[in-house]
Amino acid sequence: MSWLSDLAAIVAVDLSPTALDAHAADVSGHHPVRPEAVAYPNTAREVAAVLAWANERAVPVTPWGAGTSVEGNPIPVRGGISLSLERMDRVKQVRLSDRLAVVEAGVKYRALNRQLSGTGWQFAVEIGGDATIGGMIANNAAGPKAVKYGAARAHLLGLEVALADGRLLRTGGQSGKQSCGYNLTQLFAGSEGTLGVITEATVRLTPVPTVREVMVARFGSAHEALACVGAMRGLDAGALEFLDRSYMGFLGEPAADTLFCEFHTAGHGAAAEAICRQGGARQVEHGEDLWAARLRAYTASQQANPDARLLTTDTAVPLGAMAEMVEFLQTELARRGLTGYLLGHAGDGNVHVILPWRSAAEWEAVEAFHRAAVRRSLALGGTASGEHGVGLGKTEFLADEHGAEAVAVMRSLKTLFDPRGILNPGKVLPADRP
Ligand code: LAC
Ligand code: ZN
Repeated sequence: MSWLSDLAAIVAVDLSPTALDAHAADVSGHHPVRPEAVAYPNTAREVAAVLAWANERAVPVTPWGAGTSVEGNPIPVRGGISLSLERMDRVKQVRLSDRLAVVEAGVKYRALNRQLSGTGWQFAVEIGGDATIGGMIANNAAGPKAVKYGAARAHLLGLEVALADGRLLRTGGQSGKQSCGYNLTQLFAGSEGTLGVITEATVRLTPVPTVREVMVARFGSAHEALACVGAMRGLDAGALEFLDRSYMGFLGEPAADTLFCEFHTAGHGAAAEAICRQGGARQVEHGEDLWAARLRAYTASQQANPDARLLTTDTAVPLGAMAEMVEFLQTELARRGLTGYLLGHAGDGNVHVILPWRSAAEWEAVEAFHRAAVRRSLALGGTASGEHGVGLGKTEFLADEHGAEAVAVMRSLKTLFDPRGILNPGKVLPADRP
């Protein structure tokens, strides 16, 4: 195609089938779609130039971090360009006295933490995939430590963003406190590449805890386990994870509804044990570290079902409704005869069911379960997505969750930032225009 040779004049481009296939799918079960080209900018200016070029020609551009999304967020469903940030992987500044780092969008969070190792500081969002920081911000990734440190958006001081028309925008700053003007930084966080392409982030650094007490408590029911999470509110928890009996059995552990918790203040592990024993725990252990097994939940579910695709639910409800939500999910799985791995971030009311499916009939069954889960979550005051984003799988719930007025304002924002609809089309906003 002639437009592709033009593009190669402004940015490194790969048209090989290998590159196109590698950027057609993330780790989700969503159907792969190849881009027409993969672009590898080296600098923010190159990103901006690609966008200006694409905007003029109405060519879709879908940003690509590391492809670790579980909701189809980086799949280029309308073709066009997959814009890989992989070459923009420079840590530009680490300023411990200012508790910040300035990174290009393609820096992987584990690489940043390796560079910080030994300093006593970390980037404190930890998730299963080795994601890029730009992708984590674009998706507002959270994971097990969010109960203490918040999701990715809580770790932002400022951004550099390339806009659809080729302008480069700076938002926020370097100060730990900011209250000057509209918060554009937070508008881009969680926007999934639909409003602009994050090219650089100024992120907060967090002290690495000096105490780490790990407790595993096994219960006879989800209700008992989750009631204890409520009672742990005053403790310095770095993670409060729930793993249901079937998922524990799948891990080769005793099949009990289980809490896996970490505390950062000495003695809080023992205090949590007292709460759990009083709350009916059958067994409490300290020091058994399920952290790696927990982070690998998604990968392990896929490996156990290599011929299946996965649908992952991501509801989050107010903490007081967590037990009701989990019991609903357990009951519905059994009633519908579905296999699903149920686990979640209990301290945040966020629970996932990872459902393998292999045929159209199975897809319909898991999708019906997903709809029922979201309906219940919304009825309980919750959300369709606590941390994975809307991506491709949750657009249909946007209006139910936010209402028509809010969705209309979102559409106006989209039009303001991306009038020609080139930025990650097909994501976040439902396709049907009113
Ligand atoms: C997890 C991913 C699926 O919590 O969000 O393992
Ligand atoms: Zn999760």
